[in-house]
Amino acid sequence: MANITFVEASGQSTTVNLADGWSLMQGATANGVDGILGECGGSCACATCHCYVDESRLGDLSPASEGELGMLDNVAAERRPNSRLACQIKASAALEGLLVHLPATQE
Ligand code: FES
Repeated sequence: MANITFVEASGQSTTVNLADGWSLMQGATANGVDGILGECGGSCACATCHCYVDESRLGDLSPASEGELGMLDNVAAERRPNSRLACQIKASAALEGLLVHLPATQE
């Protein structure tokens, strides 16, 4: 379980308590965080769950797969070194307190 804080481009902040195994995309969309769409349902096929992970915590995440890296080429907003797809990040205690910024647009 982990508390994850999503900060939207507007500055709106939402902290969600996520059970282990839930993706950050699932947690955001189930809790009314508008900055993540998740149109493909989490199958790494739409890139509408783009997020910017707190750079100081990148080492706490599993590395992005080849598939995720490929989809990150298709994000609508600027891709940055800390860009990830929220559907590919699964909650666990290691992510407690993680701060995730969201881009202004997903499409
Ligand atoms: S929800 Fe489609 S790529 Fe993440």
